[in-house]
Amino acid sequence: MKIISISLPLLTIFIIQNVFLPISHCRADLIDQTCKQTPNYNLCVSSLKSNPRSSAADVKGLAIIMVEVVKSKANDTLNKIWAELLRHEDPVIRNCYDHYGYMVGAFIPDIYGDLTSRGLGGRFVRYNPAQAERRLHNDIILRVDHCQNGFGQGRRSPFAKENKATHEAAVVAAAIVWILI
Ligand SMILES: *[C@@H]1O[C@H](CO)[C@@H](O)[C@H](O)[C@H]1NC(C)=O
Repeated sequence: MKIISISLPLLTIFIIQNVFLPISHCRADLIDQTCKQTPNYNLCVSSLKSNPRSSAADVKGLAIIMVEVVKSKANDTLNKIWAELLRHEDPVIRNCYDHYGYMVGAFIPDIYGDLTSRGLGGRFVRYNPAQAERRLHNDIILRVDHCQNGFGQGRRSPFAKENKATHEAAVVAAAIVWILI
């Protein structure tokens, strides 16, 4: 009995070290390996690790999680733009509102569909990472920059921080999706 009472905890430690740790270690390596292939390693790792699903995800799963991060950043930006627009109507701010409205309402769901084969309303969408990658550039990054650059030289963008966060998340997402192509 004495032997068992001593060896049971030891056995437990042995199992944890040899069975569970290599799995989490391997997954941590996948995040690490994947993020090394993006231009913003730190943002990539912190974004992915903030979602518990990333610990069991493959590269495609990581790409989907990063697209969700883009959606959340874009929605934060849209909410801020809307609040600004309620205070005063302005063509440059309205331009940002239009871009972000399309991104959150249509383009990001389309990109999500490209990666999950599930479109809005359950219609079938073909898995198409190349299209997701193009859309991240053309429908997200370019539109974010168009919003930001609309403020021109003499005017400070009230959304500089949010545009930067959305742009950077989309660049990381595009780099992860690129691995799938
Ligand atoms: C965007 O944010 C608003 C306000 O917080 C929320 O009601 C809405 O569900 C969000 N939309 C998406 C697509 O996340």
